[in-house]
Amino acid sequence: MFDPESYANEAIELIKKQITGKAIIGCSGGVDSVVATVLVSKAVGDQLLAVHVDTGFMRKNESADVVKMMERMNINHKLVDASQEFYDALKGVTEPETKRKIIGEKFIRVFEREAKAIGSEFLVQGTIAPDWIESGGELRDTIKSHHNVGALPEKMEMKLVEPLRDLYKDEVRKLGRYLGIEFSERQPFPGPGLAIRIIGEPTEEAAYIVREACAIVEEELEAAAEAGKMELPWQYFAVLTPVKTVGVQGDVRAYGYTVAVRAVQSLDGMTAAYSKVPHDVLEKISNRITNTMKDKVNRVVYDITNKPPGTIEWE
Ligand code: XMP
Repeated sequence: MFDPESYANEAIELIKKQITGKAIIGCSGGVDSVVATVLVSKAVGDQLLAVHVDTGFMRKNESADVVKMMERMNINHKLVDASQEFYDALKGVTEPETKRKIIGEKFIRVFEREAKAIGSEFLVQGTIAPDWIESGGELRDTIKSHHNVGALPEKMEMKLVEPLRDLYKDEVRKLGRYLGIEFSERQPFPGPGLAIRIIGEPTEEAAYIVREACAIVEEELEAAAEAGKMELPWQYFAVLTPVKTVGVQGDVRAYGYTVAVRAVQSLDGMTAAYSKVPHDVLEKISNRITNTMKDKVNRVVYDITNKPPGTIEWE
């Protein structure tokens, strides 16, 4: 039986011995990176700098929430707004694998810059057991090149510290709850962020549309689950498609984008079944999305594909 208290105590003692200089971690706001950040900060205090990179493809209020959490927990941190750099690097890019590659590389460059600026000797990563156990990663890795924010090349020559290496996701969540982290229950979010939920060129405007739509999907499904209307899906979000269709606003012809809503049940993301979301909940989501972005979106569809044959994300 996993005991978060003794794990935390032992890990903190070990980290104190391991980290003898300055250390850096990329704190994306995902459960693993947040738990690793809090644990290492408890061990070495301000020797650790937690860098949160706003790529311009984060969810609504996400970067601000991550910063607030770090402030509340007294973590030495820095917010780097690199959104313009990411938008520029992705100009004209539509191919999913190219997008992932550019985002991964850009992230490394931004992070390298920050590590160099403080002369960091140690790199902390929130790697967990399924990330390195081969059987867990094989299938998905051959389908999409997964990018974990914080996965950096060895040539950085910093010593790697991975305090969650032996843990599974449920243990990380337990540890997070023990450490008083309110991010412990969040749904999975891909490293490349909202950019892979924009089919086609990930522009600033597209990021705005998908960010608003994702926030509405999250709010409505969480409210419906809270009200006992349905089980909260394992993962739920919106995708902006490049499909434009004819619609009507008032009595005027409109020509706007189509947003797809995706909600799935899954255990580990390897396979998934689409969630049977009640129609009244879907209708509310559709109305809110088209009302909030009247001039941009005039059609909402629901994705009823399981994995396989689909994947959870659309790219
Ligand atoms: P797919 O779309 O492959 O996704 O069915 C399975 C799970 O993985 C998440 N995902 C990622 N997570 N880096 C990540 O850390 C990535 O590049 C990435 N791509 C997809 C996806 O959100 C789902 O939970």
